[in-house]
Amino acid sequence: MASPAALLCLAVAFLAGAAMAADPYAFFDWDVSYITASPLGVPQKVIAINKQFPGPIVNVTTNYNVVVNVLNSLDEPLLITWDGIQHRKNCWQDGVLGTNCPIPPGWNWTYNFQVKDQIGSFFYFPPLSLQRAAGGFGGITVNNRAVISVPFDTPDGDIRLFIGDWYKKNHTDLRKMLDDGKELGMPDSVLMNGKGPYRYNDSLVPAGIEYETINVEPGKTYRFRVHNVGVSTSLNLRIQSHNMALVETEGAYTMKQNFTNLDIHVGQSYSFLVSMDQNASSDYYIVASARFVNESIWTRVTGVAILHYSNSKGKASGPLPDPPNDQYDKTFSMNQARSIRMNVSTGAARPNPQGSFHYGQINVSQVYKLRNEPPVTINGKKRTTLSGISYSPPATPLRMADLYDKKGVYTLDFPTMPSDGPPVIRSSVINSTYKNFLEIVFQNNDTKVQTYHIDGYAFWVAGMDYGEWSENSRGTYNKWDGVSRCTTQVFPGAWTAVLLSLDSPGFWNVRAENLDTWYLGQETYIRVLDPEGGYNVTESVEPDNVLYCGLLKEKQKAQKPHASTSSSPPAVKQNDYLLAVLVSLVALAVVR
Ligand SMILES: *[C@@H]1O[C@H](CO)[C@@H](O)[C@H](O)[C@H]1NC(C)=O
Ligand SMILES: *[C@@H]1O[C@H](CO)[C@@H](O)[C@H](O)[C@H]1NC(C)=O
Ligand SMILES: *[C@@H]1O[C@H](CO)[C@@H](O)[C@H](O)[C@H]1NC(C)=O
Ligand SMILES: *[C@@H]1O[C@H](CO)[C@@H](O)[C@H](O)[C@H]1NC(C)=O
Ligand SMILES: *[C@@H]1O[C@H](CO)[C@@H](O)[C@H](O)[C@H]1NC(C)=O
Ligand SMILES: *[C@@H]1O[C@H](CO)[C@@H](O)[C@H](O)[C@H]1NC(C)=O
Ligand SMILES: *[C@@H]1O[C@H](CO)[C@@H](O)[C@H](O)[C@H]1NC(C)=O
Ligand SMILES: *[C@@H]1O[C@H](CO)[C@@H](O)[C@H](O)[C@H]1NC(C)=O
Ligand SMILES: *[C@@H]1O[C@H](CO)[C@@H](O)[C@H](O)[C@H]1NC(C)=O
Ligand SMILES: *[C@@H]1O[C@H](CO)[C@@H](O)[C@H](O)[C@H]1NC(C)=O
Ligand SMILES: *[C@@H]1O[C@H](CO)[C@@H](O)[C@H](O)[C@H]1NC(C)=O
Ligand SMILES: *[C@@H]1O[C@H](CO)[C@@H](O)[C@H](O)[C@H]1NC(C)=O
Repeated sequence: MASPAALLCLAVAFLAGAAMAADPYAFFDWDVSYITASPLGVPQKVIAINKQFPGPIVNVTTNYNVVVNVLNSLDEPLLITWDGIQHRKNCWQDGVLGTNCPIPPGWNWTYNFQVKDQIGSFFYFPPLSLQRAAGGFGGITVNNRAVISVPFDTPDGDIRLFIGDWYKKNHTDLRKMLDDGKELGMPDSVLMNGKGPYRYNDSLVPAGIEYETINVEPGKTYRFRVHNVGVSTSLNLRIQSHNMALVETEGAYTMKQNFTNLDIHVGQSYSFLVSMDQNASSDYYIVASARFVNESIWTRVTGVAILHYSNSKGKASGPLPDPPNDQYDKTFSMNQARSIRMNVSTGAARPNPQGSFHYGQINVSQVYKLRNEPPVTINGKKRTTLSGISYSPPATPLRMADLYDKKGVYTLDFPTMPSDGPPVIRSSVINSTYKNFLEIVFQNNDTKVQTYHIDGYAFWVAGMDYGEWSENSRGTYNKWDGVSRCTTQVFPGAWTAVLLSLDSPGFWNVRAENLDTWYLGQETYIRVLDPEGGYNVTESVEPDNVLYCGLLKEKQKAQKPHASTSSSPPAVKQNDYLLAVLVSLVALAVVR
């Protein structure tokens, strides 16, 4: 037996080891406010972070603790959500209405989360009330730890590219259109890094628009991290005369594969390696154009940036590189998506290979088929539904309703299969259990591509095909090297099946990433309950600084508004404002 002294020594060594191994912290202080910008030549209010649009990049490494103090200098409630960050066992930091009370105007709230066992390229954005249509987004890079080898040489530089459709109308006007049952219509353009298109054609692009220039050195290879942060347009990305070697999808390394163009749907993120292997006879166009639309009508919905070699001999000129010529045939696009494979032999966040988890051999414990249908009218309002249910966020976050035993806030009756009953507005949630293995099939019965995102997890994209999904469709699943990601496209008249391992208790948002579809009700949550009562064991406890609202609002102490928002009303008024907002949300929730 070891002597007490030896045990003490061991304990000291253990403590020292623990201290040394403690994961580093990265701190951020963000002021989220409106600024005036003119991305399309006309001044408009956009949402900026520390006056930057797009916002700053959260550049951290696997296992870092990230602390972001968010001050809401807008005139409406705010949350920030971290698309793709898993907040393992800690949905309190997810920044959506099912887990967090919104930060009232003039208040701040500090997020504190760990990017545990993750690598990859993600983005954050304000998820409430269509705010993303006005900006507020920015990048998250989770670098791999130095001890883990990456399946490609270290690139010579890292380039961020936010692409997205954009309206000259602000988000409050867009919101009103949706509330009034109107469609948003054709966007005014596509922005790249918050800037309008390069004037590649005098009759198509007005003068005086500031465009994005990416400066590069000949012979070097750069990693482009690209995110579609737009409202609802699928975009085709291409770089004139350059191959784009795809290497990452939302936190998983893929088999390296060259594309001359790739469709990037709303909410999706990709990393490409691009070699500057051309002779720079001129600058090159970087193009993101609207997909599956009549291009002769949608010409203005095209983002154009410039790739500028340091030895460039002149400006880019002439026509843009051609998009795929298949407006009415989405086969090319689906085949592109299906060709993306995970590199199962490489490490990522951990040294063991990405393919060590054999997702294809696990027995599925629950199957959900979620059907998207064209918008419907419920109670005289235009709404969107998933499996006939149009979600309405309750005033009390779902996770808090559970913790404080508030009954009736939501229902656990989300149907496993779409029903033929009349569509309803309801706060209906998927009932699941810690360690279950879920199969979710998204079936798109509408005529537009949709993308779906699940918070808290990466899922395996097992299959995607045209027609109606049936049990026989499982025969076509990729059970070996399907790509792991958090946002998948679902083509019209087609289905996409994903598999996920529920290793993290909490409430996790499932939603359409297309903002109009989401805003009108297309979302739900998965309640992942640990039947052993895992609170504080398998799940993190409520954070000290938690905000209360809805049925718990009397627990919330008023915050002294921040000095920089002196024009905002006193705290008690803000509580009233928040209450008004929440009351209106409750009003929406009334069924029938
Ligand atoms: C991000 O962090 C990594 C690792 O610390 C560093 O090498 C890189 O230069 C940083 N990138 C940016 C854009 O700041
Ligand atoms: C608001 O910010 C201050 C520091 O500026 C911090 O001490 C406080 O904890 C923050 N409040 C919340 C609820 O995060
Ligand atoms: C897959 O990963 C391995 C190990 O890092 C690497 O050697 C190989 O090049 C990668 N394959 C592809 C096609 O990217
Ligand atoms: C949006 O624009 C409308 C006018 O079209 C204006 O009344 C409203 O205040 C604007 N909202 C914001 C947040 O700027
Ligand atoms: C500019 O676009 C218009 C409309 O598509 C087209 O007719 C014209 O040829 C283009 N001009 C150039 C220089 O490409
Ligand atoms: C991919 O593109 C790169 C750069 O253009 C090129 O060097 C490489 O040979 C291409 N690989 C394949 C498999 O085509
Ligand atoms: C290289 O540049 C010349 C003009 O300077 C051009 O004519 C030629 O096509 C270019 N070659 C390639 C491979 O891009
Ligand atoms: C695209 O729109 C143009 C202009 O309205 C129309 O002439 C053309 O027929 C349309 N093309 C297709 C393929 O529908
Ligand atoms: C899956 O289910 C089958 C049949 O019930 C069973 O034989 C098998 O052991 C299960 N596999 C796993 C990995 O649990
Ligand atoms: C939720 O699922 C659990 C485990 O399957 C079950 O025991 C419970 O009754 C379900 N709750 C509801 C409301 O359906
Ligand atoms: C929608 O569903 C109906 C009924 O099952 C089917 O006839 C129709 O083809 C579907 N449309 C699409 C676009 O999936
Ligand atoms: C959670 O567990 C820790 C460690 O056992 C304990 O210190 C803490 O008081 C617990 N917190 C709650 C809210 O139960």
